[in-house]
Amino acid sequence: MSIDRSADLQWQRHLVLGDGWRIFVRPIKQNDDLMIRDLLAHVSKEDLRLRFFDSIKEFSPQFIAGLIDIGGLHVTALVAIDEASSEMLGVVWLHADALRKSGEYAILLRSDIKGKGLGWDLMQLMIEHAKSEGLSRIDGQILQENSIMLKMCRELGFEVKTDLEDRGVCNVALMLEDY
Ligand SMILES: CC(C)(COP(=O)(O)OP(=O)(O)OC[C@H]1O[C@@H](n2cnc3c(N)ncnc32)[C@H](O)[C@@H]1OP(=O)(O)O)[C@@H](O)C(=O)NCCC(=O)NCCS
Repeated sequence: MSIDRSADLQWQRHLVLGDGWRIFVRPIKQNDDLMIRDLLAHVSKEDLRLRFFDSIKEFSPQFIAGLIDIGGLHVTALVAIDEASSEMLGVVWLHADALRKSGEYAILLRSDIKGKGLGWDLMQLMIEHAKSEGLSRIDGQILQENSIMLKMCRELGFEVKTDLEDRGVCNVALMLEDY
């Protein structure tokens, strides 16, 4: 899922959230590292743990590169930018498997803008993108205590099951054929 120029335009969106809050969504770019660093600076330790399943002590260049490097054929990421301030507010990633049958998603928003509907809109866009790529399912792993994400997944139609080997984790799956 490398993003060429035409795909770049195809996945650009202007969203308007409550109170007329304008958000621009576009595919991530290789030179987004400073914006990603700024986003991470606005994410609480707890939200970082919910996203990465680990306490992140420093954002090394390699760590940042891993979030941005969508040079591989199977990964895409969409970023949400506040149109007024030009700050990055969130990212949703989708990693497709080598056969391009299924993909695994992850999402992270600035902690101070949670609960305003942006996560929902980014999830919808990620699902739309996966469908357009012909994937038949989307998987995700969510910590049991991540009630916001689990609730949202249920509302979006994901099946939610506790991981049998790690009961602290839920595996979520969305079948796209009939979506
Ligand atoms: C999880 C996360 C992405 C959610 O994003 P968010 O912007 O905070 O969530 P939203 O405001 O879009 O949605 C929250 C609520 O609206 C619901 N909702 C939003 N839009 C909706 C719509 N159009 N229709 C129905 N329900 C909707 C959600 O289910 C949820 O319900 P509630 O407010 O009644 O409790 C965000 O909190 C986050 O980044 N958390 C830290 C990282 C993380 O946990 N990542 C997930 C693991 S990879």
